[in-house]
Amino acid sequence: MHILCVVLLLAFLVLGHSSSPLNKMWEEWKIKHHRVYDNQTEIIFRRAVWQKNLVLVLRHNQEASAGKHNFTLGLNHLADMTAEEINEKMNGLKLEEPANFTNGTFKEVSGLSMPQDVDWRKNGLVSPVQNQGLCGSCWAFSSLGALEGQMKKRAGVLVPLSPQNLVDCSTSDGNHGCKGGYISKAFKYVIRNEGVDSERFYPYEHQNGKCRYSVKGKAGYCSNFHILPRGDERALQAAVASVGPVAVAVNAMLPSFHNYRGGLYNAPGCNPRFINHAVLVVGYGTDRGQDYWLVKNSWGTEWGEEGFIRLARNKRNLCGIASFAIYPTL
Ligand SMILES: *[C@@H]1O[C@H](CO)[C@@H](O)[C@H](O)[C@H]1NC(C)=O
Ligand SMILES: *[C@@H]1O[C@H](CO)[C@@H](O)[C@H](O)[C@H]1NC(C)=O
Ligand SMILES: *[C@@H]1O[C@H](CO)[C@@H](O)[C@H](O)[C@H]1NC(C)=O
Ligand SMILES: *[C@@H]1O[C@H](CO)[C@@H](O)[C@H](O)[C@H]1NC(C)=O
Repeated sequence: MHILCVVLLLAFLVLGHSSSPLNKMWEEWKIKHHRVYDNQTEIIFRRAVWQKNLVLVLRHNQEASAGKHNFTLGLNHLADMTAEEINEKMNGLKLEEPANFTNGTFKEVSGLSMPQDVDWRKNGLVSPVQNQGLCGSCWAFSSLGALEGQMKKRAGVLVPLSPQNLVDCSTSDGNHGCKGGYISKAFKYVIRNEGVDSERFYPYEHQNGKCRYSVKGKAGYCSNFHILPRGDERALQAAVASVGPVAVAVNAMLPSFHNYRGGLYNAPGCNPRFINHAVLVVGYGTDRGQDYWLVKNSWGTEWGEEGFIRLARNKRNLCGIASFAIYPTL
């Protein structure tokens, strides 16, 4: 957006005017995201939330162009939701009990020299980005993303696996469908069930349903999983380099994460102890001297860089990226 335009919009917003360019933006955003609200109260509320997000985005991007941040924000499909709503409805990761998640078993392969850059998308280990919708099923997308990579390495074909299968069928393993779950318990289900269906056979529905697993649709399996040493970014790097995509948990609570558009995410307030969302590390690299993790989210391709985020690496476990890292073994 043109800088003068930004300043004008900000002035309108701060002064509380309902200017016509703003109304136009709001109408366009609603059309683009197929939003229809039930009543006038709801319209006024959603418009206010959207406008608050717009101010945040414009302010942040102004600061970014002044060199204060290396990432930008944008209005995406979540822009009419408050941070509380997003955290409640979309970040359904249950925290693993520390006792069950102490020290990892990953041993660095001796003599392994880690590459400077890894991007498993280039090797076809990463399926297309999906949108979990208003369902706290991130744990299912994250764990299956790691399994898809291992299956592709074993079988040579990349087959998207079914998060709906896990949402519907892994309750007795301790998961809660759209109300949240655990990465480790997702793998426990696949081990106990001796398989998980493909996405094509058992498509995603954005809500809890009856368990319809069938061996006819089976496209993945695993026999165990490895937990990485807690908070150790070097071990995570070694695992990503030598194994493939790794399921991780992060702090996705900040509005800057919800509105992330692109660049190297390095929000100073991203406390590694407040973890609430599961994602998939599919690589890492360095951009103009800044190390980053390449991370796949499940909020659709409109969020971030086509659905991915580059999150600062070796910044003291920013957002807790290395706090709960797991990969399955076939
Ligand atoms: C307006 O719609 C919202 C959201 O659908 C709903 O929660 C609320 O009860 C409705 N209010 C009225 C007055 O109908
Ligand atoms: C942005 O990146 C540059 C290197 O390209 C770095 O020197 C600077 O510290 C970064 N700024 C922030 C706020 O992270
Ligand atoms: C942790 O492990 C104990 C013993 O194996 C088990 O009873 C408990 O349910 C586990 N807790 C979680 C959250 O996995
Ligand atoms: C975990 O590892 C750390 C460092 O490697 C060590 O200090 C600690 O005693 C270990 N804890 C357990 C429970 O094995």
